[in-house]
Amino acid sequence: MFQHLQQYAGDPIFGLNDAFHRNTHPQKINLTIGLYYDENGRIPVLPSVAAVQKELADDPSPRVYLPMEGLASYRSAVQRVVFGADSRVVAEGKVATIQTLGGTGALKVGADLLHDAYPLAGVWISDPAWDNHHAIFGGAGITTHSYPYYDPDTKGLAFDAMMNCLNELPARSIVLLHPCCHNPTGVDPTPEQWQQIIAVMLERGLIPFLDLAYQGMGEGMEEDAYAVRAMADAGLSFLVANSFSKNLSVYGERCGGLSVVCASADEAELVLGQLKAVVRRIYSSAPWHGGHVVAGVLNDPQRHAQWLTEVEAMRRRMAQVRKAVHEMLAAKLPGYDADYFLQQKGMFTYSGLSREQLVALRERHGVYIIDSGRIAVPGLNNANLEHFTDALVDVLER
Ligand code: LMR
Repeated sequence: MFQHLQQYAGDPIFGLNDAFHRNTHPQKINLTIGLYYDENGRIPVLPSVAAVQKELADDPSPRVYLPMEGLASYRSAVQRVVFGADSRVVAEGKVATIQTLGGTGALKVGADLLHDAYPLAGVWISDPAWDNHHAIFGGAGITTHSYPYYDPDTKGLAFDAMMNCLNELPARSIVLLHPCCHNPTGVDPTPEQWQQIIAVMLERGLIPFLDLAYQGMGEGMEEDAYAVRAMADAGLSFLVANSFSKNLSVYGERCGGLSVVCASADEAELVLGQLKAVVRRIYSSAPWHGGHVVAGVLNDPQRHAQWLTEVEAMRRRMAQVRKAVHEMLAAKLPGYDADYFLQQKGMFTYSGLSREQLVALRERHGVYIIDSGRIAVPGLNNANLEHFTDALVDVLER
């Protein structure tokens, strides 16, 4: 019955992560997937999260279905974290927010909503992209296109080329943007550049869709939300998919949010109803446990403050690792320009390594980096930096 279907080629990130686990190299290093590992190479259970989980384990309440839009206390917490505690659009009731199955679920629900509202609209996605963006929007029936984003010569933003492309888009085109910690490059626009991007969105009547999967991992929880808040201040209507997978280290709990900023409170009410309809037809409602874990941390002032220090520690460790790699490479391979380790931000850095070099890293040294050359920085720590930089030098010198 299904013989006519094509073999699934596998996911470029999850597939290589699986291959890493099968490898038996004694010094293997996993730099594939966007998971935060601590200095000991472990995925942390944050103490703020563990405290809530313990309370929930003792809580005999029945695990009933959540409403289609999710837990009310979770949704208001999403709004505070993403838009800021003093957000005007939130206070005016212009933001429709739902709890979603991770950031990926938020993208899917948002894509379905947009396809229902604007069936002819295409989406423009950064080049290079997080591959799943194309799959999610394509799967929702939306034609996907690319806009230039990364300049391999500078290992920075191809801002002029990006703006030239955005300036040509038809009205009501969807533009997928990463407010911080761009995946896969780690290259972000400056606040001034964001203001120029916002001006084009307004001028051309474009629909920004922000994917905020790494809030807190770049410059800070508030700083990383700059683009979200600047768009709200500019009076734009837009969507934001946010994820707590990384910044609360609750990947498998599938905790995300989708917020749609509307022109009025009435429109937000209408949109909320449509979001519920989309959720109902895909998966009915979001998870009870994950929802209560996140709400339990974010709504308790003491735990919230503790969580912020935990995120800060993750961010600082990644910054230290970037600095250490830069120093080691400067000593081991003085001619090599490793400044991108310092300039790019968040969990990823875009190495520009060739396919041959990446294969050699895997086969000769057990160092796993996905085929785009994106390095997941948290896989590095003091115990494996020497091996990583030696391996890099070996393939760069060949
Ligand atoms: C990544 O990019 O590695 C993460 O966002 C995990 C994923 O779902 O791909």
